[in-house]
Amino acid sequence: MQKIIILDFGSQTTQLIGRRVRELDTFCEILPYNKFPENDPDVIGVILSGSPFSVYDPEAFKIDLDKIRGRYPILGICYGAQFMSHTLGGRVEPAPSREYGRQHLTTIDLDNPLFKGFDLGSQVWMSHGDTITAIPEGFQCIASTETVKYAAYWSAPLSSPEGDTDVLNVEGKAAEAPSGAVGGAPIWGVQFHPEVFHSVQGTQLLKNFVVDLCGSTQSWSAASFVDTTVAELKEQLGNDRVILGLSGGVDSSVAAVLISRAIGDRLTCIFVDHGMLRKNEFTQVMEDYKCLGLNVIGVDASKKFFADLAGVTDPEQKRKIIGRDFIEVFNAEAQRLMTTVFPSGDDGGAYRWLGQGTIYPDRIESLNITGKVIKSHHNVGGLPKEMHLQLCEPLKWLFKDEVRRVGRQLGMPEHLISRHPFPGPGLAVRILGDITPEKVQILQNADDIFIRGLREYVCEDGETLYNKVWQAGAILLSTVRSVGVMGDERTYEHPVALRAVTSTDAMTADWAHLPYDFMARVSTDIINQVRGVNRVCYDISSKPPATIEWE
Ligand code: XMP
Repeated sequence: MQKIIILDFGSQTTQLIGRRVRELDTFCEILPYNKFPENDPDVIGVILSGSPFSVYDPEAFKIDLDKIRGRYPILGICYGAQFMSHTLGGRVEPAPSREYGRQHLTTIDLDNPLFKGFDLGSQVWMSHGDTITAIPEGFQCIASTETVKYAAYWSAPLSSPEGDTDVLNVEGKAAEAPSGAVGGAPIWGVQFHPEVFHSVQGTQLLKNFVVDLCGSTQSWSAASFVDTTVAELKEQLGNDRVILGLSGGVDSSVAAVLISRAIGDRLTCIFVDHGMLRKNEFTQVMEDYKCLGLNVIGVDASKKFFADLAGVTDPEQKRKIIGRDFIEVFNAEAQRLMTTVFPSGDDGGAYRWLGQGTIYPDRIESLNITGKVIKSHHNVGGLPKEMHLQLCEPLKWLFKDEVRRVGRQLGMPEHLISRHPFPGPGLAVRILGDITPEKVQILQNADDIFIRGLREYVCEDGETLYNKVWQAGAILLSTVRSVGVMGDERTYEHPVALRAVTSTDAMTADWAHLPYDFMARVSTDIINQVRGVNRVCYDISSKPPATIEWE
């Protein structure tokens, strides 16, 4: 399968480049800057990302450009452009002032294929401290802003002695060979960031590069992913059985449906109820899973979790206890299946695999750009080695939005697919102070009113509030009491805080501007219907500096 390689020099927007390329129905891999796959025949082009470093920093990441130059079309973005210019004989110097924010391309070579479809004056997003002050010999400037002369450059593909231009479809762009330039595939460098939203025609630029210049056939789609993955899983798993832990979330659910497409009943899913899920969630999700034809064992372990959490108030301690208990319960169930249900290969194969809904960003975050693992990924850590289970992670190449598309392709119900993220420790990290089943019940009731309200409120554009926000929930401030009055009685009870945020990746988030009429209704309903709550507040903090969860 054709792929674009994105070499990561440590920029915060590298993942975004990857997402944009995937949006062009083209597969891409984000790799540490020094891990270029030299012998991969599927590579059709290379993008060099930005970087927090200046090319002059002693620690700046450097690569041997000769390994890729001329072999593939290259697009350098920001540092990527500066690094190529600096290395190939141009000049990079500190900018008089940091070039940051919106700028406009006041001159553009509209005949250059990278700028096909561009409008003069197009807005781009700059963010750099250094700037290119001279480009290498044989390179041409193809765009400028008022303050940045070399906003974009290229080195044309050169005629070889036989008259072949190169492998690319850059119509009629072969140039005379100036000294210092090499033949073969051309190089482009842009000092702005086409991958960010504020570069208005950035997607067009990436499309020009990926589709026209690298020759992507745009055949990476949810349908093709499902077909090839199911075939690969059949091959990989043979007659073996797979155990998979479901959480109710999108990733593990889509992974389960995909694996079950390949091996049917030989996939056994385990869904552990720790008692701190949303109201009725365990039963509803179990029903959804059964409708999807999944073979699911639901384990109600809430008593154990509540007992172990009794009196614990520290958030990290809560997380540790829940994580540990979860692994214990999951392992006990997995052991039971492996030793008593299908202990050997006699009956359609033994359990040899642990299925997981790991997605691409989880793995990218697990690698630093020197290629060393800095954070072991996921909850695999707790599985005893004696189980000898291998990992089966069919979504490991997908971004979150792609997981959703695959889920839809698999015919999964929309309410499972568009579900908000929910933290693994559940409502335990939304109750300030210690946790008791009674507090969980109060919170479940308040949360349910809020979430049902979001689902039912249809905005003018026909979208529900639920679908407009990234994540929402209620928090029980059980360490706080305030005075209120209900009828003739004075109350002295707990406040509930409501939180709803908009976000694209949970790394940053804004508080959602929910309509006042909606807030008024939810507040009244919660105070009237949920015993133990006499006050409702709305959290208007953004992340950073606040986090999405309160604990
Ligand atoms: P914060 O609170 O760090 O949350 O802004 C970012 C995203 O992560 C979720 N979250 C968790 N998910 N286990 C999880 O599986 C956790 O301990 C946990 N803590 C936060 C949070 O809901 C949000 O989507």
